[in-house]
Order: sequence, then structure tokens, then C-alpha cells
Amino acid sequence: MSIKKDQDHVIIFDTTLRDGEQAPGCSLNHREKLEIAHALAALKVDVIEAGFPIASPDDFDAVHTIAESIKGPTIAALARTIEKDIERAGKAIAPAAKRRIHTFSSGSDIHLEKILKMTRAQNLERSVHAVKFARTFTDDVEYSAQDTTRSDLGYLVELYTAVAEAGATTLNIPDTVGYAIPAEYGTMIGTLAERVKARVPGVIISVHCHNDLGMAVANSLAAVRAGARQVECTINGLGERAGNTSLEEIVMAIRTRQDYFNLRTNVETREIFRVSRMVSRMTGMIVQRNKAIVGANAFAHESGVHQDGILKERTTYEIMRPEDIGIEGSDLVLGKHSGRHAFRDKLAKMGMKLTDSEIENAYNRFIELADKKKNIYEDDLLAIARDQMDVIENAFILDYLHVSAGTETVPTATLRLKRGTEVFQDAGCGDGPVDAALKTIDRITKVKGQLIDFSLQAISVGKDAMGEVTLRVAFGDDIISAKAASTDIVEAGTRAYLSCVNRILFNRAAHAKTKRDPGPAL
Ligand code: KIV
Ligand code: ZN
Repeated sequence: MSIKKDQDHVIIFDTTLRDGEQAPGCSLNHREKLEIAHALAALKVDVIEAGFPIASPDDFDAVHTIAESIKGPTIAALARTIEKDIERAGKAIAPAAKRRIHTFSSGSDIHLEKILKMTRAQNLERSVHAVKFARTFTDDVEYSAQDTTRSDLGYLVELYTAVAEAGATTLNIPDTVGYAIPAEYGTMIGTLAERVKARVPGVIISVHCHNDLGMAVANSLAAVRAGARQVECTINGLGERAGNTSLEEIVMAIRTRQDYFNLRTNVETREIFRVSRMVSRMTGMIVQRNKAIVGANAFAHESGVHQDGILKERTTYEIMRPEDIGIEGSDLVLGKHSGRHAFRDKLAKMGMKLTDSEIENAYNRFIELADKKKNIYEDDLLAIARDQMDVIENAFILDYLHVSAGTETVPTATLRLKRGTEVFQDAGCGDGPVDAALKTIDRITKVKGQLIDFSLQAISVGKDAMGEVTLRVAFGDDIISAKAASTDIVEAGTRAYLSCVNRILFNRAAHAKTKRDPGPAL
């Protein structure tokens, strides 16, 4: 069942749904995760790390659903070197045809002493036991020791050799804190690979780098040159703190510099742009304009000299073609007169897997939107489709919103919310129309949130573009983020806030039923 690969193939292990989702301010619901997993399968990544099932019942369900629905990639789940974590991970991935348990501990003395409160020997023993236990669920087991780049190399050789002998098929060497320098990391990976493989030849060496010093991609590539044959990465480089190795940069570097690496990946590069855009829209994490490969400026030539060169011969200034990553000319897609059929067709072509009732609701939103703005772009459709995925049973729904604001007016909001057959109505004022609307929601729902972040982004071009509001709201110690889009930005903010309220009410109800184990900080 484990992935057996030839020497010139680099396995792409995508952890957008696990490490990526840990990015501050980014949270994906169950439905959004499934949609991204479908897109990752179309991108032809080899492994999807779908989540950390012990973290919460919601995480477990998301991994389980992905394991049931996604065909093609191996589905991996994360677990500490603890039996109950491994058992939970094993159950979550059970439906997948190809499944992997990724169990992790730490390698550095500072982590062992301060976090795990274990000696090196205890950690080794527990890691070996965890790998053997994980092998009772699947024969594809990955082991990671966090913080390897601040660990003793002799201990790492001993630890990784022991877990490989116990049955780990992939050995992942994380630079958890983004401390490594490419040449140094390459040497470390080369030494570890040589010494462990002398005892266990078939094992795959993997790397997982964080971007704290901006070197995650460079470090991963140095490791690949030194013999690593799996790279762990995320779409748009999303992840904890400054993020992880960016998938699109790794894949395009290996492809574009074939002459240097002489390696290949299985990734269907023409899907890259589409997945990047989907992940950005769903997480609310904006891709910076000058981001390599997928940023809006990545293929834009502004200077006269460059434009002149490009017109004469494209390769004078372009090392990749936009179409290689799936950028096509205009993405103007549908208009007011596009029928249901064209709408459904377009969503399918964009890789969105909506149910019939979700398509019906999305179509109605599309018609409303087409009445308000002339041109509808793929990003508009993504936002409409994404809004259908905010599915919580018995949620409050915004039925009516009226605000008045202006320099001479006290900002007020009148709202009507529905929940099932119940109808709630109230009005209030605030220091602006958004404040007035959110305070009124607090009063109706009897939940008090504190707004800690409000960001607004135009979804497409033009003065009539939809605005997407991304919010972070604190409810006591819980922080929830949500997003919503509309041509009316007050409405978008109100809907996003109501999503946060619905989510906290749902979480509290679920929490009352099941005790949550938050797991360690990763
Ligand atoms: O950064 C890290 O060390 C991790 C491990 C769990 C692989 O994410
Ligand atoms: Zn990580």
C-alpha cells in the first residue's frame, strides 16, 4: 500500500488542509476542505494530509469524509506518538484506498525537555512503539521528529534508524522553526539519508520546511538535491507563522530547471492557478501580487525594454509560460442571460463539486448578482459557490437588512433573522453601519463577539465588483473567522459576522456533547 517510487520522482505531499489550515486567521469548514481536496486530487498531488483527527470531532469528520470521497492520492492523517491519536487517525483514514498515518514527536533537546518532558531514550522508545502501532492500521507510516534543524545529528541518526527498522516507510525531517540555511540543510539531509539508508535502504526521505527566514523553498530544493524524494508543501505557501514551502514554487522549479535537477513530479501544472485561487478565496488569505508563480504580477511585464523583448521573442524574459500553470486570457465567464445549464457547466469546469440544491441556491445568487453587475468573473462564481458551503444546521439566516448612515445621520441598522420557522427582528445604532448591524445581531442571538480583524478585498475588477469581507471574531477564548461577499460591503460584513456567530453556537453545542482534546502546539 505504501508509495514505491523510482529515484527520479519527487513525491508531492500536500499539507494545505493540515499545516496550511493552522495559519493564523485561516479556518476552513468541513465542506470547504472537501472541495479543496477534490482540487488537490485534480492537481495530482501524491499525498493529501487531510488533518489531525484527534484535535476535534470536526477534524475527524473532515478527514474521514475526504478518505471516503477522494480517489487518486494517498490520504494521510497526523497523530502524536500516542496510541489514542494513532487509533483516531487510523479510523479517520480507514475508507481510503491508499492511506497513511503520519506520527510525530520531537528531536531537539529543548522540545524534549520543555514540551514532551522526556529523555532522548524515552522519546526513541515511544516513537518506535508508535510506528509499530501505526503499522497495525496501514503499512504506509510516516514518522517526523519536530525541530530537527536544532537537534543533535547523532541522536537523529539513532532515532530515525530505529523508527525505520520498526516499520516507518517515510522519514520526514522537519525544519519546524524555519531555522535552516540551504547548504547546511542539504548536508544534514544527505548525511541522515546515507546513514539511515545504510541500515534500511528502501526508506523515503522527506522534508518539511517553514518559511520564518524566507528560505523554505530553497531549503527543500537543497534537500532534494541531497537525496530527499518527498517534499511537504502547501498551496500558496500557507501555514503556521510565515508559512510552509510553497507547492507551486517547488513544482515549477523542478520542472523549469529540469536541466539542473533531472527529476520530475506527477503534478498537473495546468491546475496550479485554479487551485491557488480556490484556496485563497476559501481561506481569505490573499496572495501577494508579486508572489512567485501565482501572484497577479508573476507574468506581467511592465518595463518597455521587457515588453519589447517579449514581443520579439517570449523567452527573452519569460522562463515559464502562463498557460503552463493554467492562466488563460480573460476569465470573464457568464452574464445575465446565461442559463442554469451554462452556470452548472461552468462550475463543473472550475472543479466545484456542488450538490443539486447547492447549485440551485448558487444559481439564484448568481441571477441576483448579474442584475447588479454587468460582468461575472470566475472569482465571483468561486465566492458564490463558497458561500453555499457555509452549512450549519439550524443556523440564523439574514432575511432583511436596512442601514442608514452618513455624515448627518446616527448610523442605524434594522435586521430580520430567521432560524427554522422562528423570525427575529430588531434595530440598533452604532458608530457606523457595520457596528450598528453587528451589535443588533449580538442582541438578537444573545452571543457577544469582539471583532478583532475586518478586511475587505474586491473580488474582481470594476467599481461594481463584489467586496469580500473576512472577519476574525473573539468569543471569549475562541477565535472564529469567516468570510462573505456581496456588492454591498455592509451586507458582506453582516453575513460574515453572522457566520461566526452560527459557528460559535454550533461549536458550543458540539462541545457540550464531546470533550475536546486540543492536542499539542505543532
Ligand atoms: O513543522 C513541523 O514540524 C510539523 C510536523 C508535525 C511535521 O508540522
Ligand atoms: Zn509544520
